[in-house]
Amino acid sequence: MTSILKPEGDWLSKVEEFFNNDEPVALPTETVYGLAAPISRPKAIAKIFDLKNRPTFNPLIVHLKKDWDIFNWVEKLTDVESKLIEKFWPGPLSLVLPKKNIPDICTASSKFVVLRAPKNKIFEQVLDGYGVPLAAPSANTSTRLSPTTAIRVQEDLGERGLKAIVDGGRSSEGLESTIVQVVNEKLRILREGALSDEELVLAGFEIDKSYQPQVTAASGDVMPGQGKHYAPLVPLVVMDDPQKWVSYFSNKKLLFLKILESDAPGLKPFNQKAQFVVLSQNDLKEAAFELFETLRLAETEVEQIVVLKTKDIGLGRAINDRLRRANG
Ligand code: TXA
Ligand code: MG
Repeated sequence: MTSILKPEGDWLSKVEEFFNNDEPVALPTETVYGLAAPISRPKAIAKIFDLKNRPTFNPLIVHLKKDWDIFNWVEKLTDVESKLIEKFWPGPLSLVLPKKNIPDICTASSKFVVLRAPKNKIFEQVLDGYGVPLAAPSANTSTRLSPTTAIRVQEDLGERGLKAIVDGGRSSEGLESTIVQVVNEKLRILREGALSDEELVLAGFEIDKSYQPQVTAASGDVMPGQGKHYAPLVPLVVMDDPQKWVSYFSNKKLLFLKILESDAPGLKPFNQKAQFVVLSQNDLKEAAFELFETLRLAETEVEQIVVLKTKDIGLGRAINDRLRRANG
């Protein structure tokens, strides 16, 4: 049985008790729900890999408070890294940094750790209460969609033996954090996410546009997660040409999904039996917020999802990245 804790009364001491018994707890963050355990409890960390069915060579993001002394956990910071932290923490920016005092089990033996300070009161209260950084990958089984509500966590991990979830309502961003590595003062985007390139550039940072995420880690030092991810339980087809919708005649139950109405104004799929959903009129933030929840709903109701990709602008890049990876 999974307990779903409301953040009231003695919820915090209950969470701490689970941790002290080496049980991970799913917690809300502003991006997606995370499956959290203190880095000081290796047995609890091992259970994260177990519950998620995640290979132990895939490292975990470690979460801390912005006002903690980061030099307890990293060897050094460059000027650019310090400025990124100053500007964007707490928030959906994860940074690859040279680690200190972080157990190898969290980082798959890499000398680097990916750190972030989440912007969510509940998660921050747990950090303050326990006083130790929390490793927390998204609270889904490997390759599945990231959850943005407590109930989606329960559906996915409840039967696998997750003991507790704190229900903090829906995640406000709905997309995972952006993972950045700074090399020669330029930013490599290892994973597109809730913080867009445009926002980073507007704040005065330079993005290394020539950098393409590696499929395998050439140096053996950094291994951003690649491959099939974020997949709904039913097949998902991504299209770049809205006219192709016409070709989807099928006896299957279909969902046609438009990210933004403005991507193909007025255009509807010509298939009367199918469902048709538009995530937002013209607001990528709203579309990102709706994306995973819409896919989760769809996978119980339809047999195939056909989605029109959006423009590669702002959060559109992260949304298209998730769709591409859901597809294969
Ligand atoms: O928004 C988020 O980032 C959410 C919330 C819960 O914080 N977390 C999240 O974690 O998305 P996860 O584990 O689902 O995705 C983290 C990605 C993985 O692809 C992993 O391979 C990569 O970050 N990663 C983690 N630590 C790393 C490291 N030391 N070096 C390279 N890549 C790393
Ligand atoms: Mg994940």
